[in-house]
Amino acid sequence: MSRTPLDPDAPTLRARLRDVADRLVPWLERMRTEPVARLDGGRRAAEALGSEWPEEGTPWRHLLALLDRALATSLHTTSPGYLAYVPGGGLPDAAVAQLYADLVNRFTTLWMPAPAFVRMEIDVIRWIAAMVGFGPEAGGLLLSGGSMANLVAIHTARVARLPEDFLDGVILVGEQTHHSVAKAARIAGFPARALVVVPSDERFRMRPDALADTIVRLRDEGRRPFLVVASAGTTAVGAVDALDALAEVCARHGAWLHVDGAYGGFFALTERGRAALAGIGRADSVTLDPHKGLFLPYGTGALVVARRADLRAAHATHGSYLPAPSTDDDAWDLADLGPELSRDARGLRVWLPLRLHGFAAFRDALDDKLALARIAADAVRAMPGVRLVSEPVLSLFAFRWEGRAEDLDRANRRWLADTNQRGRVFLTGATVPDPRDGRPIFVLRVCVLGLRTEPATIEAAIADLDATRPG
Ligand SMILES: Cc1ncc(COP(=O)(O)O)c(C=O)c1O
Repeated sequence: MSRTPLDPDAPTLRARLRDVADRLVPWLERMRTEPVARLDGGRRAAEALGSEWPEEGTPWRHLLALLDRALATSLHTTSPGYLAYVPGGGLPDAAVAQLYADLVNRFTTLWMPAPAFVRMEIDVIRWIAAMVGFGPEAGGLLLSGGSMANLVAIHTARVARLPEDFLDGVILVGEQTHHSVAKAARIAGFPARALVVVPSDERFRMRPDALADTIVRLRDEGRRPFLVVASAGTTAVGAVDALDALAEVCARHGAWLHVDGAYGGFFALTERGRAALAGIGRADSVTLDPHKGLFLPYGTGALVVARRADLRAAHATHGSYLPAPSTDDDAWDLADLGPELSRDARGLRVWLPLRLHGFAAFRDALDDKLALARIAADAVRAMPGVRLVSEPVLSLFAFRWEGRAEDLDRANRRWLADTNQRGRVFLTGATVPDPRDGRPIFVLRVCVLGLRTEPATIEAAIADLDATRPG
């Protein structure tokens, strides 16, 4: 029987790998100076790429050309000028690690089939747990992103703190809590009434006094407030909750504290970040996104919990056809700690860059982002008519122009569009309650977390914002 074309021979595979490298290595260099967004023609590129049922194969070269076109017509999330949403770095060494992982395709769901590959993920989780300040009982796992990590945290807290009949359980969130938490609560089976919003202070932080009052009121009503979701860097404005004070309230009232640090968690590597996140180690669980704070390509989130036993209690099951579960504390069956059975070998793509560069390189990079965000915020604050609505506690801040205009939101949306139009930086906005009076306002935001964002990028951002400023 001849070899299936699905399994390319060695020269073919080598040639394909070389083609990808030959295209993408120069592209990564070029991309630094190309416009950060090129969405014109995106629809045409999508149509050119779309096809009916492909019963027969298409030549490799033709497909590569389609990929070139797809790549050209998109937001360049890997560009230095991408300061939108929460930037994704696309760390090249993580992509190389992923290629390795996918080519060898180890089964890392259980310890037995690939102990050393599972160990990579265990090490990564232990390093993150140590960074957060958790003790030796800690555990966790890598997931596809922050949304999944928040979902697993909610489910784990529910099993740990509520009876089987959990519908009177209440999850306390802040005004700026990421919407993935509401989605996770819904997926976990909680009714809409289970989410109760705790008021914020003038810096968009959940008020600890209001949290305590809300817990007492809910208990008086016969409900079960069991989980508090705090934020270590909100997506819209970058606010960091007073984690120590919230931990105090949770400890007093026996509530599980989950900290959503999807955006901000890895700043705990830095001195400034550690100060801002003080108290994070008192949480029961923390979400962090390596595909944000460690600059990885999209697809890697992390959940760490103070007690691995809680994750096991919420997830462990057993299939009779599988090897006997591991009872060794250093040999984790990852399937028992989360919802997935078969999964990609996520450990390698975090482990390899960390071992290759060391945490020091990531700390330095994050320190640079913190410094760049401050420079940008100071320059924006100095612009006539501009108010900083949210200071850069970490690397994200929000602002708005408030000169004379009939419709301020419209003027600010125009400012955003005109700045982006220049092609050197790409920013996004958000509508948030004005801390002065609670009325909804549109703000522009800058989030500095791109792997390649550098001083020249921030100079360009400031110059373009200044040149297009309304008024
Ligand atoms: C604070 C916060 N939590 C959760 C998420 C969701 O993470 P993911 O997009 O990785 O699912 C985000 C995404 O930006 C976020 O900023």
